[in-house]
Amino acid sequence: MIEIPVSKAVSLISPRLTVLVNTLDARGELNSSPYSWIYPLSYNPPMVGVAIGSKEKQTYINAKRSGEFAICVIPTSIGQRAINCCLPHQPGDKLWEKNGLQIENSKEVQVPRIKQSTASLECKVTTFLEFGGSHVLMVGKIVHAQAEEGGLEKIDPLLHEEGYNFRSIGKELIVKWGM
Ligand SMILES: Cc1cc2nc3c(=O)[nH]c(=O)nc-3n(C[C@H](O)[C@H](O)[C@H](O)COP(=O)(O)O)c2cc1C
Repeated sequence: MIEIPVSKAVSLISPRLTVLVNTLDARGELNSSPYSWIYPLSYNPPMVGVAIGSKEKQTYINAKRSGEFAICVIPTSIGQRAINCCLPHQPGDKLWEKNGLQIENSKEVQVPRIKQSTASLECKVTTFLEFGGSHVLMVGKIVHAQAEEGGLEKIDPLLHEEGYNFRSIGKELIVKWGM
């Protein structure tokens, strides 16, 4: 075993899914930016959290104003296009469109989903948690979800290890719960 600086310790609990978090700005324009610090938080009601690194980020500003966001799971096939959406941008820049991504209506929220996404969660913001760290945790109740039929192989999520390191899923393993 080697010692890992605590400043790098969070990289040991990776990889995580790469998603585009979609929000609507005050003019109704879609903002879609990559995030991977996303966490399941509750089964009942189903809730999810997104850790946002600054209150200046449009995802925070938009979700705080509109009370909605959509999490769009990114398959490996559109990984580069989705990651390109992290470049610095202004409201209305539509990086998602410039990178060849398309949108379609969501079912239960105003904010659209990314058409090429293989799974998506439509969410209503319940709270923003500040806990003295660098990030704000945006908590949302999942009000609708959809996915490609065929499970994880079809969803083929792009996994974010850290920095510019990404992976795809490996083979399924059968492990039994507590023998
Ligand atoms: C794969 C990937 C994952 C990222 N995950 C996060 C994250 O979980 N939290 C965060 O604050 N920024 C994350 N970022 C950086 C944001 O995408 C970047 O700051 C973006 O400009 C924010 O856009 P916004 O202002 O539209 O929210 C990530 C970037 C990439 C490429």
